[in-house]
Amino acid sequence: MSTIEFKNICKRYDGSQNLTINNANIKIEQGEFCVFVGPSGCGKSTLLRMTAGLEDITSGDLLIDGKRANDIAPAKRGLAMVFQSYALYPHMTVRQNMAFGLQVLGADKVAIERKVQAAADALQLGPLMDRLPKALSGGQRQRVAIGRAIVKEPGCFLFDEPLSNLDAALRAQTRLEIAKLHERLDQSSMIYVTHDQVEAMTLADKIVLLNTGDRIAQLGSVAQVGSPMELYHRPNSLFVAEFIGSPKMNILPAVLQTAGSISSQVVLAGSALTVAVNASHLKEGSKVQIGLRPEDIQVVTSNSPSANVNGVISHIERLGESSLLYVDMGGNLPVITAKTEGTTQFVKGDLVGIAAHPERLHLFNEEGWACVRTVSLPV
Ligand SMILES: Nc1ncnc2c1ncn2[C@@H]1O[C@H](COP(=O)(O)OP(=O)(O)OP(=O)(O)O)[C@@H](O)[C@H]1O
Ligand SMILES: [Mg+2]
Repeated sequence: MSTIEFKNICKRYDGSQNLTINNANIKIEQGEFCVFVGPSGCGKSTLLRMTAGLEDITSGDLLIDGKRANDIAPAKRGLAMVFQSYALYPHMTVRQNMAFGLQVLGADKVAIERKVQAAADALQLGPLMDRLPKALSGGQRQRVAIGRAIVKEPGCFLFDEPLSNLDAALRAQTRLEIAKLHERLDQSSMIYVTHDQVEAMTLADKIVLLNTGDRIAQLGSVAQVGSPMELYHRPNSLFVAEFIGSPKMNILPAVLQTAGSISSQVVLAGSALTVAVNASHLKEGSKVQIGLRPEDIQVVTSNSPSANVNGVISHIERLGESSLLYVDMGGNLPVITAKTEGTTQFVKGDLVGIAAHPERLHLFNEEGWACVRTVSLPV
């Protein structure tokens, strides 16, 4: 039920020269599922721990429901945190673990039982209620940790990489459970920290992509905020473009030939390419970088009229439902990755052409800032 707002939030750990969080401005609306994602060490957990009150805020304001909360005690913030490490009490049963937080607050016994039962039902923990944590699997322990948060009926849930100790199948299953939980508790806001972009893309209403402060120190920690599709289709910088999407976007050096406001021409390895972006603010003749997602590339035979550039397949990875073709275009160009159908007939050593639709290309200036794409895209 809470809105959470970070206003010019900075964090400097004692003895550290650098800011770990540099001027973060983020607003999480009531009921929103907000995911903090970014490379290891960029400060995701720090930001979450400051929200929970487990870490001091060096400067700036944290607002919970519009009220400054920097100095409010953790237990009084109306938040509940779920950690990667579960942090269950080993000597307590599942039922006792879930009830403990409410007992400490002096809640009514009948009310506690009702809330614990409701959370157990929601998470299908019924048959496990009298077991100790050591008799549970990792996924079951994490469900208990989530149950312990649910019974507190927080205004906002704070999750710090809750699935990272689980194997791939259990991760996918628990991810779905968390999405359903958010649907059921549609008034509860959630802040979810992960470095897994699949979790970020599938769970988030809003993604906050953080960067390590020193890379863009003058700009602050937040690289981009937006819906998953916004970040995928309209990354504002090379950093965002390369972080979102797997395999990651291919980046190729080129020269801007015609800087238009609707579409622009670039020259890549001697071939002209049209890109549907507004590059009118850039100088013609300047160095630029083309961004091309593996899934947006068509690999064609080298003499095909649609081929933009030619290259040789240097390696193939067959994943079953798709194949990744690594195409070496020679010169100083990086080897690019193209994602094609699993049944591709191409083999290593084939001479091929690469074709890319102008509306599928991204363009960045020399410093790595994106030109606005001029086509309508899903949001
Ligand atoms: N108590 C501390 N004292 C000093 N520096 C710290 C402390 N806690 C974290 N840091 C540093 O702050 C930076 C951000 O740490 P944080 O744990 O927030 O990163 P993260 O984004 O959660 O990374 P990960 O994905 O690896 O969990 C790191 O460089 C880390 O070394
Ligand atoms: Mg962390």
